[in-house]
Amino acid sequence: MSKTLIRGAKVLGDRALDVLIDGETVAAVGTGLDADGARVVEADGQILLPGLVDLHTHLREPGREDSETVLTGTRAAARGGYTAVHAMANTFPVADTAGVVEQVWRLGRESGHCDVQPVGAVTVGLEGKQLAELGAMHESAASVRVFSDDGKCVDDAVIMRRALEYVKAFDGVIAQHAQEPRLTEGAQMNEGTVSAELGLGGWPAVAEESIIARDVLLAAHVGSRLHVCHLSTAGSVEIVRWAKSKGWNVTAEVTPHHLLLTDELVRSYDPVYKVNPPLRTEADVRALREALADGTIDCVATDHAPHPHEDKDCEWGAAAMGMVGLETALSVVQHTMVETGLLDWAGVADRMSFRPAAIGRLAGQGRPVSAGEPANLTLVDPAYRGTVDSAGFASRSRNTPYQGRELPGRVTHTFLRGRATVMDGKLV
Ligand code: DOR
Ligand code: ZN
Repeated sequence: MSKTLIRGAKVLGDRALDVLIDGETVAAVGTGLDADGARVVEADGQILLPGLVDLHTHLREPGREDSETVLTGTRAAARGGYTAVHAMANTFPVADTAGVVEQVWRLGRESGHCDVQPVGAVTVGLEGKQLAELGAMHESAASVRVFSDDGKCVDDAVIMRRALEYVKAFDGVIAQHAQEPRLTEGAQMNEGTVSAELGLGGWPAVAEESIIARDVLLAAHVGSRLHVCHLSTAGSVEIVRWAKSKGWNVTAEVTPHHLLLTDELVRSYDPVYKVNPPLRTEADVRALREALADGTIDCVATDHAPHPHEDKDCEWGAAAMGMVGLETALSVVQHTMVETGLLDWAGVADRMSFRPAAIGRLAGQGRPVSAGEPANLTLVDPAYRGTVDSAGFASRSRNTPYQGRELPGRVTHTFLRGRATVMDGKLV
């Protein structure tokens, strides 16, 4: 059994402690622990976090292996400090059957770089017309609990109601991509002063907010769990805050890019900024940061959306929507939330590991850093300053909005059940 001693890391940003990993488990946490033949990682000044968990990753396999595979996506995840990701269902074929989710789950087991929990589609072919075989996906080896038509909205209220009713039986959750389709026909960017000036089709905040308002009411009516994907507006925050104040079972996520970027960037017409939901305004960014800080928004989810360059390096109107995010998420959160004083590192552990693991009901992930727990751990050097260069990404795709930007922090080590997947910033 291999042993690793992480020496002098600030556990969740608090006291500097030694952490001994023995095999797959945290064996001891304390001061002056004996190395006793263990490999030693000197972690002076570094922060030790529970392994990060992403609720929203597009791994693209099967079907779009030109943009990402389970192997390359989980390598990117490990580089970003993740030990588990939820793989979205909008693949080709769509993950709407037990067969496809089992295939993704098996590929994840073989990749080894992080745990892969498949998300099942809510409706057949993401078409919003007929419920997919939710029960069979749950019963399969993949044990699916999170269902989403992400990329598309489950806009039919009856289908949404039935989905919420169905998953209630096994403690599942519907993760909604909130986008009223009629209100966003031809939409290219946030509807506001910038879209008016640029003459691009606007994507009104109300298209997101009206679906969230309907769905929190449906979730309350059914008594089931709703998770709202990638909140992007101040109004969405208000609705989720209201739903939570009622005690309803509603959770929400925000992406790193919606915590940092605004629609002003679209003036460049660079499709790297084209994303769904669109980048919004400064006031929305402020509201999202505050909501993540006060817990109204439960977690950060990357919406890692890899696209090959031919789908992004074209004119704005033709470009695909989405940006990669796994390898920069923690740095963006450090920049927008920690360095602004909105969240401490314990808060980061909560919003990027504990809560997303709890929402996905993942066993063995999002656990405290203490003796007897599985050794899923991330070590971060917060003092590091570097410039993002997508040429060094483990992801197969390069569509990052942060190319050339200086961002703080670096994941130096990631441990998946005691085994290093990243050491000294490099994949193992
Ligand atoms: O920007 C996005 N890209 N938003 C989504 O909802 C889907 C995703 C994708 O699959 O590319
Ligand atoms: Zn989405």
